Amino acid sequence: MTTALDQDTTVRYEPRGAARDLFRSRDSEIVIAGPAGTGKSLASLFRVHLAALHNPGIRCLIIRKTAVSLGSTTLVTYEKKVAADTLARGIARWYGGSPREAPCYRYSNGSVIVVGGMDKPQKIMSAEYDLVFADEATELTETDWESIATRLRNGALSWQQQIAACNPERPTHWIKQRCDQGRAKMLISRHRDNPAYMNADGTVTEQGRDYFAKLDNLTGVRALRLREGRWAAAEGLIYDGYDETVHLIDAFKIPNEWGRWMVVDFGFTNPMIIQWWAEDPDGRLYLYRELYHSRRLVEDMARQARELMVYPSGQWREPQPRAVICDHDAEDRATLEKYLQLGTQPAEKKVRAGIQAVQSRFKIQPDCKPRIYIMRGARVERDPELDQAKKPTSTEEEIVGYVWAVKPGGAAPEAPLKENDHGMDTMRYVVAERDLGGRPRMRWVG
Ligand SMILES: Nc1ncnc2c1ncn2[C@@H]1O[C@H](COP(=O)(O)OP(=O)(O)OP(=O)(O)O)[C@@H](O)[C@H]1O
Ligand SMILES: [Mg+2]
Repeated sequence: MTTALDQDTTVRYEPRGAARDLFRSRDSEIVIAGPAGTGKSLASLFRVHLAALHNPGIRCLIIRKTAVSLGSTTLVTYEKKVAADTLARGIARWYGGSPREAPCYRYSNGSVIVVGGMDKPQKIMSAEYDLVFADEATELTETDWESIATRLRNGALSWQQQIAACNPERPTHWIKQRCDQGRAKMLISRHRDNPAYMNADGTVTEQGRDYFAKLDNLTGVRALRLREGRWAAAEGLIYDGYDETVHLIDAFKIPNEWGRWMVVDFGFTNPMIIQWWAEDPDGRLYLYRELYHSRRLVEDMARQARELMVYPSGQWREPQPRAVICDHDAEDRATLEKYLQLGTQPAEKKVRAGIQAVQSRFKIQPDCKPRIYIMRGARVERDPELDQAKKPTSTEEEIVGYVWAVKPGGAAPEAPLKENDHGMDTMRYVVAERDLGGRPRMRWVG
């Protein structure tokens, strides 16, 4: 596809397969879904960009669950790969927003592309649009999606459309169900649609070889979803009671009276994890903050953790944790204590009992609530290396792939598969601390 902007400006983009279908579609709700790296985001961004260029005065919206993740991913692709030339020539300009107006790209023909996250919906949801693109749309709730639909009535384009791009999730995800029910149209995007990774004759490009090598390292449900593009559920899920519509909640201001716990699992090649949990007066636990990084020194993690809790003046930003519950490596623990300036206590590491305690916390109680929650956006930063390797980047992302190790001969599973389980261990430690009682009988040597 080539579009002349002026005499000597052209943008070249070759849409294939689902990407081409996307450009032809006038359906009001459309989902472009498929494995990792098939060109879904690029296609949707081109769709929005070209519509803005060719239809003066239209209003578009690019959205993700959180504004921060939009800025670090989708908008980078937009600025570098889609609108670089248009921006360089001043045909579109970035506008950083104001107290009343959301940030946007303003095109010289009067079109705008507003950008934002559903975590801060006020400014974006008070306006009207012709075309909306939600990237990584499985992160949204169906309510988010439906409230976006109510904003699609600007009427400057003869058709209005809401586009979602995503990787497959569990088969019961609302996006899949919405498509199955015919309320949204699903376009299935494949690796062969991406000319950066596959040639038209079906051979793999050099860039594709590197990329597929990463995907080939995936296992379990992540391989099914991100390599094969299947809406698959993991078999042998350990936390099968976890339901993100129940346990994953929007962040709220935690009352100062609630107790706080810090929990730490060490790692370097594997991620090191620091979680912060709040406990309400009824004993429910809320994961409200998390550091989740590979290849970061204990010292650096501890410094960052301290900065998150304590002002440079030494005054606490939030209630001090009642305890820092810690993995057992003596040397790492000493480093952690030094830079955190807090003492630590050893985690109760019994696996089976700990897992059972977490499982029962996920269960809905007679008061209609579970006893454990994860707050959306708890992870402070996404680790780019883990992200590139398509590994989980947060505890929440681990839960849905945490499975029992299958024993030969089909015997009942006894142990979890030791893979992508670091946030799972950390979560188990805090629950063990609260529910299993007693401290492990061990002495720190260090
Ligand atoms: N038609 C195309 N022409 C050239 N390069 C492309 C094309 N489609 C995709 N690419 C490149 O392939 C890479 C992956 O594309 P993109 O990020 O859009 O994939 P995605 O399907 O959104 O991936 P994910 O599942 O990780 O979100 C990017 O570097 C992109 O620029
Ligand atoms: Mg994408």
